[in-house]
Amino acid sequence: MADKDKQANNQLEKVKREILRKGEIVNRAIDEMFPVKEPKGLYMAARHLIDAGGKRLRPVMCLLAAEAIGMNADEALKAAVAVEIIHNFTLIHDDIMDRDEMRRGVKTVHTLYGESTAILAGDTLFAKAFSILADDHHSAGNVVKACRMLADVCVEICEGQYIDLSFESRDIRDVSIDEYLEMVRKKTAVLIACSCSIPAVLAGKDEYAKALWKFGEMCGIGFQIHDDVLDLVGGEKIGKDWGSDLIEGKKTLIIIKAAETGVDIPVFGRGNASREEIEKAVRVLEECGAIDYAKREARNFVSIGKKELRKLPETKARATLETIADYLVSREY
Ligand code: IPE
Ligand code: IPE
Ligand code: MG
Ligand code: MG
Ligand code: MG
Repeated sequence: MADKDKQANNQLEKVKREILRKGEIVNRAIDEMFPVKEPKGLYMAARHLIDAGGKRLRPVMCLLAAEAIGMNADEALKAAVAVEIIHNFTLIHDDIMDRDEMRRGVKTVHTLYGESTAILAGDTLFAKAFSILADDHHSAGNVVKACRMLADVCVEICEGQYIDLSFESRDIRDVSIDEYLEMVRKKTAVLIACSCSIPAVLAGKDEYAKALWKFGEMCGIGFQIHDDVLDLVGGEKIGKDWGSDLIEGKKTLIIIKAAETGVDIPVFGRGNASREEIEKAVRVLEECGAIDYAKREARNFVSIGKKELRKLPETKARATLETIADYLVSREY
């Protein structure tokens, strides 16, 4: 391995340890702020995915963004918990919509507890996140601004998720790359943008809030493109249903690009497929260059996002955020 690669690798390993360390702080805070209580069935369903794990990237980025603008990570802990809880709410509802059975290596909430309880578990998380954020100790005016930002983000996520679903019934040659990018900006990138920006909103540092939003937004688009790649090539490691996007007829950047080059994927949108059929489809998508194209695009969005970090003072936390940005599009799960 070349020296430069070795250095990058070391940096990445260090950052993974930092994600775990800060993730533990978030986990303890979630236990404290969102304990299981009566009725147990509802709270067990609401805590099911939280307890199964997850990378905790959004809350960790939130805590790092706080440090990068001169706050103590502690001061952003309620915001960090709120964004992770919102994320888990979106996952529970997303799995119902995408008809997926596995997430974080365990059965999805609706598969285990039924759709009705899963919908309620999601709703509980959604409301609880705002209740936690409203308790933040910063000035009341800034807390209201943060709550409004998170609420607006939730509306955009719903818009993005609706657009994602509506694409399922459209012809593949009909969905443009720009439409795809706007869909993933809404369904995925804005929550990552909010996670990065919210400490600066709470602290009333508007210029930093803007830069951190843009950083998270661009990285979030890259993150979702990479998620779409992992759906095809990630294998067991991703802990989610494999090839689900293909079966459901999701208009990912990969499939849009493949359609442009004229390849045909027989299982696309068929609602079911054997392992061999998915494997064959993935081979075709690899051979036509669509997967490499998506990987390149994911990295491009991240490098645009990283430029925004230059507007922040040079700190260890800023450097860690920069490495996390690269991790978002190089991670294996
Ligand atoms: C999955 O997000 C949902 C997407 C927006 C693609 P993550 O990959 O961050 O999921 P967890 O939290 O680590 O399980
Ligand atoms: C996730 O998109 C977007 C949200 C959860 C809002 P996906 O549907 O691709 O996420 P995964 O792959 O199921 O995690
Ligand atoms: Mg999904
Ligand atoms: Mg989805
Ligand atoms: Mg996905």
